[in-house]
Amino acid sequence: MKLDVKKLGGCFVAEVDGVDFSSPVPAAAVAEIIGVLDRFGVAVFRDTGLDDLRHIEFSRQFGRLETAPKLFDAQSTRFAYPELFDAGNLDREGRILTDERRRIYNRGNALWHTDSSFNPHRAAYSLLLAHRVPPVGGDTQFADMRSAYAALPPATRDLIEDLVAEHWLWHSRMIAGYPAPTAAERASKPPSQHRLVQFHAGAGCRTLYLAAHASHIVGWPEATGRQLLQELMAFATQPQFTCAVQWHRPGDLVIWDNRSTMHRATAFEDTLYPRDMRRTTVYDTPG
Ligand code: OGA
Ligand code: MN
Repeated sequence: MKLDVKKLGGCFVAEVDGVDFSSPVPAAAVAEIIGVLDRFGVAVFRDTGLDDLRHIEFSRQFGRLETAPKLFDAQSTRFAYPELFDAGNLDREGRILTDERRRIYNRGNALWHTDSSFNPHRAAYSLLLAHRVPPVGGDTQFADMRSAYAALPPATRDLIEDLVAEHWLWHSRMIAGYPAPTAAERASKPPSQHRLVQFHAGAGCRTLYLAAHASHIVGWPEATGRQLLQELMAFATQPQFTCAVQWHRPGDLVIWDNRSTMHRATAFEDTLYPRDMRRTTVYDTPG
């Protein structure tokens, strides 16, 4: 199978055509898509026609899937499948969310981040499928952590070579304005530690593993570590390393590699327009 791969507007995102999602996608096509992700980091597929179940089944072809944590009461989840993460602004009845805690929690997605870096087992791919898109705004931006790493001054590369960052879900949520986590929330998502510099085997290069969830550097005074992380974030999200993906229609699918990119949601009139976005998250292979 030969996929039709185009570079989106001169940046590192690929727009991929030629995948037939109406029946199970052949393993050879999935292998080609993984090759595209190794090269680009982000791939956009238009008009896939996928529904929840086929979204999940297609995702499983990339590896084992995470299940979404039940952070709010079980009644609040909109989906029949535990593998679906809710990145939209709707409640169970399809109305725009009014629950202020959930609205603030969701605002965390507007910070540059890598999905699930707060878990001990990293995520490889995220597959975000649009079900409803607002008429304007609500793009998703991506930052390329391979070119950002490659562009770091050598002294910085030396400095960070062996550093380990601590990632905590509640760190990014508190930055977004969420209240300090309750004991139950803390227990449900304890912090995790990951090396700041990682080698991406598929891409054959080093990457910066950053996220708004990263709170400090292990073994460093907290403030010093936080400052370094903020400097690296500012460096890695400069315009030359970033690009935006526009969601055109329901059925648009974007797959990104969390090991080589960061992403963030951008603003739209979220009290006026529904935005229904559903995500699956594929574990990185162990080791
Ligand atoms: C996500 C996410 C951004 C967006 O689903 O992981 O960060 O634009 N989404 O919805
Ligand atoms: Mn995300």
